[in-house]
Amino acid sequence: MADDRKKDHIDLAFEANSFRQSRDSRFEYDPLHGIHPTHQDIMPIEFGNCKMKFPIWISSMTGGTDKAKDININLAKACNEFGLAMGLGSCRKLIENPNLLPDFDVKKHMGQQDLYCNIGIAQLEQYINDHKLYVIRELIDRLHADGLIIHINPMQEWMQKEGDRFLSPAIDTIKATIEKIHCPIIVKEVGQGMGLRSLKALFQLPLLAIEFGAFGGTNFAKLETLRNPENFTDDQLALQYIGHDAEEMLQWCNEIFDSSSVDSRFRLIISGGIKTVLDGYYYISKSKIPAVYGQASNFLKYAQLNYESLQQYLITHTQTLMVASQFLRVK
Ligand SMILES: Cc1cc2nc3c(=O)[nH]c(=O)nc-3n(C[C@H](O)[C@H](O)[C@H](O)COP(=O)(O)O)c2cc1C
Repeated sequence: MADDRKKDHIDLAFEANSFRQSRDSRFEYDPLHGIHPTHQDIMPIEFGNCKMKFPIWISSMTGGTDKAKDININLAKACNEFGLAMGLGSCRKLIENPNLLPDFDVKKHMGQQDLYCNIGIAQLEQYINDHKLYVIRELIDRLHADGLIIHINPMQEWMQKEGDRFLSPAIDTIKATIEKIHCPIIVKEVGQGMGLRSLKALFQLPLLAIEFGAFGGTNFAKLETLRNPENFTDDQLALQYIGHDAEEMLQWCNEIFDSSSVDSRFRLIISGGIKTVLDGYYYISKSKIPAVYGQASNFLKYAQLNYESLQQYLITHTQTLMVASQFLRVK
């Protein structure tokens, strides 16, 4: 074994030279004061009704498609095993077709961990206008959910051929929902993030959390253009590149936090382009507000294979996070 290792070291030494590779300069590396983590180590944070073992959020994804049920069950089981929390993908299809309940009904796999159902702002506006907001209350009850995520997606709707149109500004629809639905509410974007004016308006509301859905990762405005690329002019395509990345949004949230009072239970979910553990660790460390980081597509990659793949991914992911917490500090 030792001989093999020595041989590997000689063979790989030239490849392992980091001379030409870029250094991750976001962190101060402190090799002197940390220890290696064990499998028992956790990084707890309270979120909504639950205690998370790690500040890792599974961002809203799928429902109402072929594989949705298995994917959602795998994600829910992972929340239970690793002490995480998650948002469901849009539950609009379930409201329209109660037979789809098994795709979304995963709270029973989650132990004590939190689950949030999800609906688009355009549907909420419609329910409010039709005096049918009670369907959201029923949805939360049927799924035994801990609250509601509202996704705000004007660019996606605009780019979508069959997309909905907002007749009222989203902020008015959110306020009307908060007044009538008494449950924890999270507001998110779906790939463009949000600018300072929108963030300031959200900080005024009694929300449980803001999820960034920032620019830099899965981008649903872009996704809509990819469905029918020939239908778009360059003028329209330019709209998919607007928005704010997690770095910019976090800086604004920190500034707003400095100049206003924020409820101690309020959280940020920093998502959108969190590609590696170090991205997530960097942002939660920089946040002045208690924060978790969220991923969607990275989890989907493994959750759609089988539970064991997702489990293996999360073992490595959480251990890497713990190593980072021992030896790295954001500058
Ligand atoms: C397959 C897939 C489906 C998604 N569906 C929804 C959805 O139904 N509702 C929603 O709010 N966000 C949805 N999202 C968006 C993500 O929750 C969000 O953009 C988040 O920022 C994380 O994206 P990323 O880690 O892939 O960059 C979906 C993302 C993916 C990859």
